[in-house]
Amino acid sequence: MTRTKEDDQVDASSVLVFYVNGKRIVDENVNPEWTLLVYLRNKLLLCGTKLGCGEGGCGACTVMVSKFDRTTQEVLHYPVNACLAPVCSMHGLAVTTVEGIGSTKTKLHPVQERIAKAHGTQCGFCTPGIVMSMYTLLRNHGKPKMEDLDVAFQGNLCRCTGYRPIIDGYKTFTEEWEVMQAANGMTNGKTNGLNGCGMGDKCCKLQNSNAITNGINGVHKTKDEVGKLFETSTFVPYDSSQEPIFPPELKLNDAYDKTSLVFKGENVTWYRPKTIEELLQLTQQNPGAKIIGGNTEVGVEVKFKAQLYPVYIKHTSVVELNQIVINSDNIRIGSAVTLDVIESTFKNLIATRPEWETRICNAVVEMLHWFAGKQIRCVATIGGNIMTGSPISDLNPIWIAIGARLHLRSIAGNRTVLMDNHFYTGYRKNIVNSDEILEAIEIPFTRRNQYVFANKQSRRRDDDIAIVNSALNLILSESPDNKIEDINMAFGGMAPTTIAVKKIKQLIGQKFDEKMLETAYQLLLDDLPFPENVPGGMISYRRSLAISFFFRSYLNISKQLNVSIDPKNLSALNKFTSKPPKSSQYFQVFEKEQVTDTIGRPIVHTNAMNQATGEAIYIDDVPIFEKELHLALIFSKKSHARILNVDISKALAAPHVVNFILPEDIPDDRQACGLMGDEILVRSDLVTSQYQVLGGILATNQLAAKQAVNLVQVTYEELKPVVTMDQAIEENCFYPPEAKLCFGNVTDAMPKCKNTISGEARTGYQEHFYLEPHAYLAIPREADEMEIYACSQDQTGLSEVVAKLLGVDQNKVIVKVKRIGGGFGGKETTGRKLALYVALAAKKTKRPVRLVLERDEDMGYTGGRNPVMFKYKLGFDDDGRIHAAEVDMFVNAGYSADVSLAVASVGITHVTNSTNIPNIRVIGKVCKTNLPTNTAMRAFVNAQTNFGAEAMLRDVAEYLNKDYVEIARLNLYKEGDLTIYNQPLVDCNVRRCFEEVLVNSDFNNRKKAVDKFNKENRWKKRGIDVATTTYGIGFGNDALQQAGALILIYKDGSVLLTHGGVEMGQGLHTKMIQVASKMLNIPIEKIHTTEASSDKVPNTTATVASMSSDLNGMAVRDACIKINNRLEPIKAKNPKGTWEEWIMAAYNQRISLSATGFHREPPVNWDWTTNTGDKMFNYFSFGAAVTEVEIDCLTGDHQLLRTDIVMDLGNSLNPAIDIGQIEGAFMIGYGLFVREEMVTLQDGTYLSKGPGAYKIPCFGDIPIEFNVALLKDSSNPRAVFSSKTTGEPPLCLATSTFFSIREAIKAARKDAGVTENFRMQAPATPERIRMACQDHLTKKVEPVKSTWNIEYI
Ligand SMILES: Cc1cc2nc3c(=O)[nH]c(=O)nc-3n(C[C@H](O)[C@H](O)[C@H](O)COP(=O)(O)OP(=O)(O)OC[C@H]3O[C@@H](n4cnc5c(N)ncnc54)[C@H](O)[C@@H]3O)c2cc1C
Ligand code: FES
Ligand code: FES
Repeated sequence: MTRTKEDDQVDASSVLVFYVNGKRIVDENVNPEWTLLVYLRNKLLLCGTKLGCGEGGCGACTVMVSKFDRTTQEVLHYPVNACLAPVCSMHGLAVTTVEGIGSTKTKLHPVQERIAKAHGTQCGFCTPGIVMSMYTLLRNHGKPKMEDLDVAFQGNLCRCTGYRPIIDGYKTFTEEWEVMQAANGMTNGKTNGLNGCGMGDKCCKLQNSNAITNGINGVHKTKDEVGKLFETSTFVPYDSSQEPIFPPELKLNDAYDKTSLVFKGENVTWYRPKTIEELLQLTQQNPGAKIIGGNTEVGVEVKFKAQLYPVYIKHTSVVELNQIVINSDNIRIGSAVTLDVIESTFKNLIATRPEWETRICNAVVEMLHWFAGKQIRCVATIGGNIMTGSPISDLNPIWIAIGARLHLRSIAGNRTVLMDNHFYTGYRKNIVNSDEILEAIEIPFTRRNQYVFANKQSRRRDDDIAIVNSALNLILSESPDNKIEDINMAFGGMAPTTIAVKKIKQLIGQKFDEKMLETAYQLLLDDLPFPENVPGGMISYRRSLAISFFFRSYLNISKQLNVSIDPKNLSALNKFTSKPPKSSQYFQVFEKEQVTDTIGRPIVHTNAMNQATGEAIYIDDVPIFEKELHLALIFSKKSHARILNVDISKALAAPHVVNFILPEDIPDDRQACGLMGDEILVRSDLVTSQYQVLGGILATNQLAAKQAVNLVQVTYEELKPVVTMDQAIEENCFYPPEAKLCFGNVTDAMPKCKNTISGEARTGYQEHFYLEPHAYLAIPREADEMEIYACSQDQTGLSEVVAKLLGVDQNKVIVKVKRIGGGFGGKETTGRKLALYVALAAKKTKRPVRLVLERDEDMGYTGGRNPVMFKYKLGFDDDGRIHAAEVDMFVNAGYSADVSLAVASVGITHVTNSTNIPNIRVIGKVCKTNLPTNTAMRAFVNAQTNFGAEAMLRDVAEYLNKDYVEIARLNLYKEGDLTIYNQPLVDCNVRRCFEEVLVNSDFNNRKKAVDKFNKENRWKKRGIDVATTTYGIGFGNDALQQAGALILIYKDGSVLLTHGGVEMGQGLHTKMIQVASKMLNIPIEKIHTTEASSDKVPNTTATVASMSSDLNGMAVRDACIKINNRLEPIKAKNPKGTWEEWIMAAYNQRISLSATGFHREPPVNWDWTTNTGDKMFNYFSFGAAVTEVEIDCLTGDHQLLRTDIVMDLGNSLNPAIDIGQIEGAFMIGYGLFVREEMVTLQDGTYLSKGPGAYKIPCFGDIPIEFNVALLKDSSNPRAVFSSKTTGEPPLCLATSTFFSIREAIKAARKDAGVTENFRMQAPATPERIRMACQDHLTKKVEPVKSTWNIEYI
């Protein structure tokens, strides 16, 4: 029970007391298993804090925790992942959530207001977490620097925005912004004529003279408006004195820190001792008790590895464990000191002590920058990191290399041990006895001739665990001798534990110079062998990293020694540090046709304010219904197996479990599900993929349901799986029919071509990674009615399949979708299946049932973007004009067909992208494998086909040794050309986009600069490249190309607008309101949209394929026309009347004030067999992008330096939303082609199950300069108000990131004397980049094919 009375008597031994948003919480019966997040959401009903992953990897759950430091007498604020923080650890602390800083009912806090107004929120699921990271930063630094922003957001992810708008909004808080404003004599951007840029004269747009003088992208001004995406002058100034005060009680009452605590729950007891003696006693009395610091490791184990620890001992209140003592020759750090405190202490030491003495501190501080995100570093303890003993711990290599000493303590006594190869005895095991605790670590200061250097390489620089890390500790004799007196080197990621390499000691006595390097490499490689099946795979890469790190350490120390080194080699030391981001957005602003006309204006997303304050409601936020049950699904753990037995008896006996679903709950004739009816709802005898559903357990709370599912025992007989496309081809496993398209006559044309080449291109799997996992709530109503709140892109599809399963008419199943936290295609057909389980369970139990997938379940169950392989033969002339092509396209579908047949058929139409190939034969085959079934994803298959087409063009250019731009230009579509499906290209703007982006980006000059850079630098290389997209918009299917809308006007003149589309962050509701506002000539504030609902607009098409604003916009328009026609006589009678007066008059005259709207596209009438018809697509979107990138040839790391995009959107309905869509889509594309890799085992098991292992692009990944221009003077007669769709096409332009990386690799290979062409498949992971940059180091490492990870699926 929660009491909040001020005068509650505090029984500090068993009563939890803390503050939330200034309110005192007293809980006498706290459940110690609960995280702070569960407590906030379930007990305090503060649902603004979101659950995105539950593993500290996405930041959606970020809150601010404040505590009073009695030593410094200061209040400290730090960001915390509420999903990992145990609620018991909040005793005596103050928690601030997004609800605590502002609200739409009162006043928004500036951090909420600015992210909303700067268009930094789309689906909004990440927004509260980002708001709270920024808020915490502001509470600590009233005027932060840009670099502080970088650090603050290391632990936050957003899948929608592409981050740029968030940074743009928040940079207005920074010191740099203020300085620029002051320097330019501007206040709040009022005199800043260019897009509100606070950089004034230094604005990148002004520096990029081409962009200004070419007249193409200059912002067009009307009499009264300047083209700005947002107006900083409307921002409420930030005044830190207005912040709420820290609860005085927590300052005054030190009992909160000093009292011992014990909280007893059903399964777990939690202790918080106050003295070290008490801690040791508890440890001895409770063998197997879990000591916890920040719980960042234990929290993940408990949640995802189903670990249950009956006793926790939280040791962080023990004073001795929290101290850092600076001795004359060492630093002693208590084991409970957090990484954040270590970082600031070490920075202080570096600033105040001699340089040589703090080289160790330098190495640690540099490493900590890349250690997790700020939220983790603020709570994670050094002791937790050491005791976990992860083989990829970032700090352990440094401690081992430097010879740190560990002080261990128990009731029996104290001992000190050296951190060396004897400390870790196996994977996550060490020599510390179970009754011992780690008290402190002692780190020696470095000596004058001692050098310490650490390295880390991960999949993503920010917030990622290492692939390999290392530390070198070197002691040299006096210069200039520089003889090695001692050398220690330790590695992470090279063995089951962090290890010190031994053979390297043989270098002792040798001079530390270039000659020593060869011996060092050999010694390292001898010491670091790998078996073929080593977990983690990447054998050759990891070994080459080990020696590359040594080489880099050598260069670094040589530089410190002032030893002369080839200046070209110095580039190995240049780091990819964060630089202040620049950006520009160009769009046309047209004259308003009427005062209320907002079409073409950057109107803020209608939900932005709700999202920024945490008031926006997602399914998991809907308050719990009476008698509600939670469903947890039983998933198959095998990819291909016979099910011998499913035993749920233990699960049913577990507390709070009330029911279950099994195959027998479903009539035989309703077991089939899935888009093509080839899936089985609940499996009973055979599983053909991991994560197929075997049943479900229903309990009165979510935790109990999930825990009970872990008790279900399934016995399997494993069968051989087919996993990859290559295996499917070999085994002839395909879904019929194959898709085929012939255009021209390739049989005749190919032999006539002067040159022919064959090639292959592949793209990998991509996870949708919307921030909100799938969630459904089914409520049985009277007379067989079922109401479903769904996290779905397809309310009609859901009601259709649920009605069939329940055996009722579709009018009895009402599906409502308020909003979804991102969809990207992953909530289309997948949602239909998941809704069936809640509906089934609700019917069976006659109680409301909710299902919320965990992130790992979501990633495992839902599938993602199909991996695609192209095998091609091209015929072309000496100029590079392609005359003939034969292309076989393979699609990895997974265990069911789902949309993969459509992927193949749409794919074959787009296989040439923007290239005019007059003779082509293309076949699309869909491979059937034992993987989770893949499904639609943003830019459907065009992303993959654009990649294939770009690869083909480059093959031609490289074969002929010609400039790629020349070849692309020669083959580019032009007005009137026929596509390969015989559709003439009308208003074909791809050439304009291509030429303009080359000009805007100053491509030619920058290419020369890139060449110069590459000549001068050996280990960093740059690449610049251009890519295009020609994207057919339409379903190619008549039935799907229709939409409806419903307008209801109330007597007060307010309008409720409903249409067929789902709001998932893309701003659809905002655009539809803009359309209605213009049509009805009323302000947008008068119009409201609540949700998409199957009882308002029937038979809708799923919100997919970028078609929703086109289709629904026309339907809205149609409904408005009907209303306008009815109002016309009234207006004619009273032309000066107001809207409200006209509506009242209409009511009084009994004129209907509701109207439905309908739209259907002209027919497609396509005949695939003859490749003829009216048209395949409604129209085309065009775009082009130039990207420049820099790679680190030694590690495979990279940084996007600049991207310029020109996108043809016709007349944009809302440039802010559209530019947001372009940037967001581009970053997802970058993820697909470069960043994201699903690690898959040979048996078809996915290993990447959350943000910890699957790395989507983060804040630090965006191009340092990101310029987006909407093509000027383009219109589109085939969509509402001449607009064009934006959601998907820009994603394809991210091929430019991949191919610019490839250009950089080519430069590296050239330096190394490697001349032959090379093939690299997407994604361009660090491993692929490094191994493609062949050089003297990679040559020392024999290529080994790992049997662990499947490289290509
Ligand atoms: C999102 C995320 C990102 C991460 N990124 C990184 C990264 O980049 N690099 C990296 O190296 N690690 C990373 N980690 C791992 C983890 O954060 C660190 O290992 C962290 O330092 C653990 O500290 P903690 O206090 O949270 O440990 P806890 O989870 O509290 O404890 C971990 C283990 O240590 C034991 N323990 C703790 N203190 C003591 C003690 N004094 N005596 C005896 N046993 C003790 C506990 O019993 C437990 O077994 C990451 C984790 C997450 C969730
Ligand atoms: S939900 Fe906590 S970090 Fe993702
Ligand atoms: S707005 Fe950030 S995840 Fe959707």
